[in-house]
Amino acid sequence: MKVKKAVIPAAGLGTRVLPASKSMPKEMLPIVDKPAIQYIVEEAVKSGIEDILIITNRGKHDIEDHFDRSPELESRLAASGKDKMLKEVVDITKLANIYFIRQKETKGLGHAVGCARGFVGNEPFAVLYGDDVILGDDPATLQLCRAYEEFGKGVLGIREVEKSAIYKYSSLKVDKIRDNIYNCTDMIEKPQTDDQILSLFSILGRCVLTPDIFDIIDNTAPGAGGEIQLTDAMHTLAKTKGMIGVDYTGRRYDMGSKLGVMQASVEVALKHPDIGEDFKNYLKGIASEL
Ligand code: UTP
Repeated sequence: MKVKKAVIPAAGLGTRVLPASKSMPKEMLPIVDKPAIQYIVEEAVKSGIEDILIITNRGKHDIEDHFDRSPELESRLAASGKDKMLKEVVDITKLANIYFIRQKETKGLGHAVGCARGFVGNEPFAVLYGDDVILGDDPATLQLCRAYEEFGKGVLGIREVEKSAIYKYSSLKVDKIRDNIYNCTDMIEKPQTDDQILSLFSILGRCVLTPDIFDIIDNTAPGAGGEIQLTDAMHTLAKTKGMIGVDYTGRRYDMGSKLGVMQASVEVALKHPDIGEDFKNYLKGIASEL
């Protein structure tokens, strides 16, 4: 079965990028000239996704506005002959069927995904974390969807992280199937001691889930940080049915962290058709003074 639906949780408080995220959703932080969430929606579309549910909350209406028409702006662009920009602005509204729902309390990523039950129905679905931008020729979500079609099980986007970083992520028990594809049979969110570390592989930014996850989420107690953790729900899925890990290709930028925001901006700016050359020269200039 093909994966046609995606859920983008974007209801977090974004405390790591305050004060920028105080009144603006961190998912709207720009990478040069596009907000992070647009890159994520574009990745979903390139992966064959047709329907997208974005989980928002109070104060995140900027996200809805970004994917909506903007009549005043459009008529101004049309009147001044800025046809290329007009097309770009209108095309954003046609990327996919985009739906919104509010997570009424910020109870964690697992709880946010649980809000998608009605939208998902009885189909597999992709989850793209709203603050993880992944850029590459082969879209990360598509890599996971291919694995879902091959194995028929939930799929995790995984990467190896530094040992010093594993304590703030999840840690997975994995066995290689081939190349970058693994069986995953166990996981723990935010290991606290060395003997809790199952491997340095962690779930980063993407997964494909089966609808049985919703009953599991409903029965998942708050975990690390007092939040209902998606990892804890996926732990049950991995233990009972097994899951697949895909060590996906692409550059990942954590737009929920200050360093990630800057890395994304610099790398995308260097390749940008309008400013790439000028920015490279500027960067060389300051780099020589460091
Ligand atoms: P994060 O843990 O990175 O988001 O969740 P956060 O809570 O905003 O992070 P802090 O405050 O900087 O530590 C990953 C994704 O899940 C969403 C976030 O918006 C982010 O895209 N999320 C998280 C929700 O939608 N709801 C929640 O209750 C928590």
